[in-house]
Formats: sequence, structure tokens, C-alpha cells
Amino acid sequence: MPELEFVNVRKSYKSPTGENLLALADFSLKVDGGRFVSVVGPSGCGKTTLLRMAAGLVPWDGGEIRLDGDQLTGPSPKMSMVFQAIGLMPWKSVQSNVALGIQLQAHRRNLTAQETDLVGATLAMVGLKGFEHYYPYQLSGGMQQRVGLARALVRQPEILLMDEPFGALDAQTRAVLQDELLSLWGRVKSTVLFITHDLDEAIYLSDLVVIMGRRPGRIKQVLEVKLPHPRYSYDARAEAGFAHLRSIAWQSIKEEL
Ligand SMILES: Nc1ncnc2c1ncn2[C@@H]1O[C@H](COP(=O)(O)OP(=O)(O)OP(=O)(O)O)[C@@H](O)[C@H]1O
Ligand SMILES: [Mg+2]
Repeated sequence: MPELEFVNVRKSYKSPTGENLLALADFSLKVDGGRFVSVVGPSGCGKTTLLRMAAGLVPWDGGEIRLDGDQLTGPSPKMSMVFQAIGLMPWKSVQSNVALGIQLQAHRRNLTAQETDLVGATLAMVGLKGFEHYYPYQLSGGMQQRVGLARALVRQPEILLMDEPFGALDAQTRAVLQDELLSLWGRVKSTVLFITHDLDEAIYLSDLVVIMGRRPGRIKQVLEVKLPHPRYSYDARAEAGFAHLRSIAWQSIKEEL
């Protein structure tokens, strides 16, 4: 599985009044192939910016982003992103929203028979078999989020970039989707870079939790989560190691708020 590396990445934006706003300063992080890495940090510290750069959606000003050692210069077919706002097309059915993942990548409208099968299989994988012809407004929030996930997975990415995918969901739906994601990850074996505000979510899902400081974003602390996988096969949240990590992470984050 490919690894993703940020090396001294620097990114500024122009504010509406024309000033430079430094979003990320000398940000370095290596995401090893096949690992699940979460990033937490205060609002506005540059988390979404990181993912958008990796997805090739925004340029950066300095440093390098490397995919398997090669400099990244634009969007790579090896990566796909699940956005902070799901962004489903309300006028398209579930099936068509997922097909869009392929159409945008292939730059064509018509799917091959094999691709159509892949859309169906991906929807089944995220638990939406039977809902292919529904429209987004006919789905619950959790189901909409599954469509967003399917749209990313249908491209069969080797690296999955996820920006607070469960942020808008209630606690129970969120816990269910976390387990589904871990189970999917166990099957597709992709590398995951996952952004969240929720420390418990970060610890529960990840091999590594990266804590960022205030803008301009840089890494403050990296915590390794050694709890065995799959975490849904036992009560991982009740482990002493879990509480210990949460306490360390919370101390670290609190200083940044
Ligand atoms: N297109 C843009 N133009 C100007 N400034 C931007 C743009 N996008 C982001 N920024 C600024 O860059 C900083 C980082 O934004 P970013 O969205 O990466 O933060 P974030 O860590 O994802 O925050 P949150 O946790 O609230 O989602 C913010 O100060 C934001 O105002
Ligand atoms: Mg964000």
C-alpha cells in the first residue's frame, strides 16, 4: 500500500482584504502504507487544507507532498476524498451519485458494465443495497454519509482521505459507522488519513493520532494507539490504554484552545 508524506509543507491563503494568512507552516508527516492515521486539532488549524492539498485540489507554497516517494503534482487516481460537507447531488439517485465518483475520474459519462457492477457492489459494501434508486432527501444522515463513502470507495483508492465524515451524525449512528469503517478498512486495506474533532473517534479508529497546534498548523504530538484490531471485536473504549491516551490527548488539545 502506498505511503503519503508531507515534507515541510507551507501554505498561505489570501484573506478577503488581501493579506497573507499562513495556514500551515513547515508541516511534516509520514503516513505509512496501510495505516489508519487520524489528525485532530483546533478549528482553523489547517486540517481540511492538508487533505485538499493531498487530493491535489489546492496548491501549496513550499515543501513537498510525496506519494510513494514521488512528488505529487496534482490529483492522483490512487487517492479519493470524503468531504467535510458530503456534497451529494440532490437531483441524482444514490446510484448516480456513486457513479459520479467514476465519471469524474474517467472524464466520461457512460459507465462500462463492469463499472456499473462495481457501483452496485460498493453500495452493498456500505449497507445500501436496495436504496440504489433513492434520492438523497429520502435518506437519513447516516445513509447519506454512506453514499459519500461509497462515492470515494468506488474509485478503489489506495489512499482514502476523510474530512470529518461523521461530524454531523448523532452519537449512535456515528458509532455504527465507525465500526463499519473499521470493518471496510480491514477488507480494502487502504491507507487512511482521517480528520476529526472527536478524540474518542480518533483513538478508536487509528494506529496513530496526530495532534496539531493552532494555526499556522504544525504537529504538536503524535500518539500511537497499540490496542489490537479489530477494535469492534471487544470493548476497546473500556480499555485502560484507551482512557490513558484520551487523557494525554485532551491535555495537549486543551492548551491549544
Ligand atoms: N479558500 C480559502 N481562502 C482563504 N482562506 C482560507 C481558505 N480556505 C481556508 N482558509 C483559511 O485557512 C485556515 C485553515 O482552514 P482549514 O479549513 O484548513 O481549517 P480546519 O483545521 O479544517 O478547520 P475546521 O476544524 O473548522 O474544519 C483558516 O484560517 C481558514 O480561514
Ligand atoms: Mg476542516
